Amino acid sequence: MPVSTTLDTSNLLEYTRPVQADLDAFDKKLADYLRGDSPLITSIARHLLKTRGKRIRPAFVFLSSRASHNYTEHSVDASLAIELIHTATLLHDDVVDESDLRRGQTTVNAKWTNLISVLMGDYLFAKAFRIMCETHSMELIDAISRATERVSVGELRQIEETGNYSLSEDEYLEIIADKTASLFAVSCETGPILSRREWPERFKFADFGEKVGTAFQIADDLLDFVGNPELTGKEPGNDVFNGKVTLPLIYSLKRVSEASAREITEYLKKSDRDEAAFQRVYAFVAENGGLDYTFKKADELCQQGLDSITPIDKSIYYESLVEMVQFTASRAS
Ligand code: IPE
Ligand code: IPE
Ligand code: MG
Ligand code: MG
Repeated sequence: MPVSTTLDTSNLLEYTRPVQADLDAFDKKLADYLRGDSPLITSIARHLLKTRGKRIRPAFVFLSSRASHNYTEHSVDASLAIELIHTATLLHDDVVDESDLRRGQTTVNAKWTNLISVLMGDYLFAKAFRIMCETHSMELIDAISRATERVSVGELRQIEETGNYSLSEDEYLEIIADKTASLFAVSCETGPILSRREWPERFKFADFGEKVGTAFQIADDLLDFVGNPELTGKEPGNDVFNGKVTLPLIYSLKRVSEASAREITEYLKKSDRDEAAFQRVYAFVAENGGLDYTFKKADELCQQGLDSITPIDKSIYYESLVEMVQFTASRAS
């Protein structure tokens, strides 16, 4: 059942104020781009535009570009390409994860069908690649294409590891870096690429995005345990019941005896998808320090991300970037 409230993104609005005009330009162009090639596309596009996401990747494109004096006339096109790719991956991901709720609303797969969600995802990829070409930057096209490839690798590896309760923390980190940090890295690298800066500058912004993006996914995985669906717009427990093994569980399983680990994983494999089962897994993870450890890990990566771009001129854009990083580590939505 969709939750009726809209997501609380009021803090984000505050943090992104210095690039509000850029985000407005992004919104306008996105709506124009998605204006229908067919009645079905138009109605799905309307659904996607109504249930707008947080626009975090475009915010990182604009803030990183402006904080490093690298904003260009093609920054909006780059942000559009990245957000469309992100949205396409969500349409595919919700089919893969059999999710019914996204951004507080029924998912496209649940409202229409899996087939339609996959094909609409493909359509958004195609649109993204066309917009990307409008930047006329082979280097940006290369970077975004590579990032998109990494998303697929990460999603496929995750499927391979479904139900693998011996997944290590390092393997988990590699997967989430591919599936999620890749798009954050290229978002933050866009400014230096479009302004044709030297490699070291490109690299430090890519590293910043990679660290913060990894933290973003860690926080997302934590929210699967502790999130309020009225704020996240997603059902908690989805990962646990789909056999997606994430950091809170990985850490907790390492902390207990082999027998206790086996007991909880056997339970997980055969339990029904209900509140009692969720509470049991939640208690296991909370009692064994998995939640605290995961939160600390996200925080640590965010700090490392900020260290990567230091020293940097102090500006309103940099201050907002810091706030966005803090939001990433401790977000509730
Ligand atoms: C969701 O990303 C998928 C993950 C990488 C965790 P967002 O949380 O940025 O999704 P929207 O666009 O705001 O809905
Ligand atoms: C992120 O993974 C999705 C992609 C990178 C495509 P999740 O499966 O954790 O994302 P949510 O929780 O469905 O948003
Ligand atoms: Mg998912
Ligand atoms: Mg998730």
